[in-house]
Amino acid sequence: MEQTKRIIQISLPVTGEEEWHATKEPLMTGWLTSGPKVSEFEKLFATRHQVKHAFAVTSATTALHLALVALNVGPGDEVIVPAFTWVSTANVVLYCGAIVVFADVDPVTFNIDMNDLKRRITPKTKAIIPVHLFGLCADIDAIKSLAPNIPIIEDGACAAGAGYKGKPAGGLGDIGCFSFHPRKSVTTGEGGMVTTNNDQLAELIGMLRNHGASISEEQRHKGPKPYILPEFNLMGFNYRMTDLQGAVGVVQIKKLDKFIDEREKWAAFYDKELSQIEWISVPKFDRSVYKHGWQSYVLLIDEKKSPMKRNDIMEYLQQHGISTRPGTHAVHMLGFYASKYNIKASDFPGAQAANDLSMSIPLHNRMSPEDFEYIVNVIKNIK
Ligand SMILES: Cc1ncc(COP(=O)(O)O)c(C=O)c1O
Repeated sequence: MEQTKRIIQISLPVTGEEEWHATKEPLMTGWLTSGPKVSEFEKLFATRHQVKHAFAVTSATTALHLALVALNVGPGDEVIVPAFTWVSTANVVLYCGAIVVFADVDPVTFNIDMNDLKRRITPKTKAIIPVHLFGLCADIDAIKSLAPNIPIIEDGACAAGAGYKGKPAGGLGDIGCFSFHPRKSVTTGEGGMVTTNNDQLAELIGMLRNHGASISEEQRHKGPKPYILPEFNLMGFNYRMTDLQGAVGVVQIKKLDKFIDEREKWAAFYDKELSQIEWISVPKFDRSVYKHGWQSYVLLIDEKKSPMKRNDIMEYLQQHGISTRPGTHAVHMLGFYASKYNIKASDFPGAQAANDLSMSIPLHNRMSPEDFEYIVNVIKNIK
């Protein structure tokens, strides 16, 4: 009989009995759309991230879209987005009919490059979306000092539980957006969260995610006149999270810090072991400023020194049962954006380098100490 080769996955969510049991209540009560479980999840998330308001939605992509709509971003407006991020950070700008203005990234932190950002700001800049890539926060204070009056939307898709200067992601800018896709540290299958400390924006976001309705379904059903439909004074969307997902989120968010602590420990192990290899750069950041969320552990390969090209290294590791990925992609190099804005790969050299030379290796909470040891040994043996 042919044996299936074991692969150490790049990421695997920790879900099991507890999450499964949590879904029983909504299934039994019949409250399946956004309701008490979503509200509970939102409260827990808001408390953990020290924000006044949190709204659960269907993904980080829809969270980002709502954030832009709430800030009234529309045709003719420019929104600055780092060139190295997941494609949807840019797509949401186009959903609003606005213009994507890419800024380069620093290939050391993979986050927005301040010198390039400065050049991209114009009177038409309506918002900036710094990305806390892989769980490392962008330098929000530096962005604020460059652009004190431009709203900041944190793309914290990868940054649940991450911190900057002692404050959690999500309350650093005007609006924060998170993802609960299974590749993130905590998951609801698909899902997202919008956070803000601004009451006016919160009111808008609450309505916009629910078709523009003036009150939520839970408020209506539990209020004195459930038979009266809400008012609709805005054009909204259906970006509501289900209560099944909310129930899973309630269980997951309570595990977030434990997950991050474990990841942090193994990231330190990788740092120690892999920094000895001259063709590898391990993640570098100032620990007195940043608390990394460790959604991913992303290396940079120096192909001038490495025995093989980055893609050949990824192939070699795959052959040895270790799955890897490029950190993410350079959006300006994707066919759609390259042709839409007539951009060359070399126009954003930091993002191009990150695109071509980054490599994410497995770091998740279902790995054993032997998995980590094995990965380090295989990498050390690449000759
Ligand atoms: C930086 C960044 N932004 C946005 C997203 C989109 O998240 P979602 O899949 O929840 O829409 C991702 C997902 O990988 C991401 O990494």
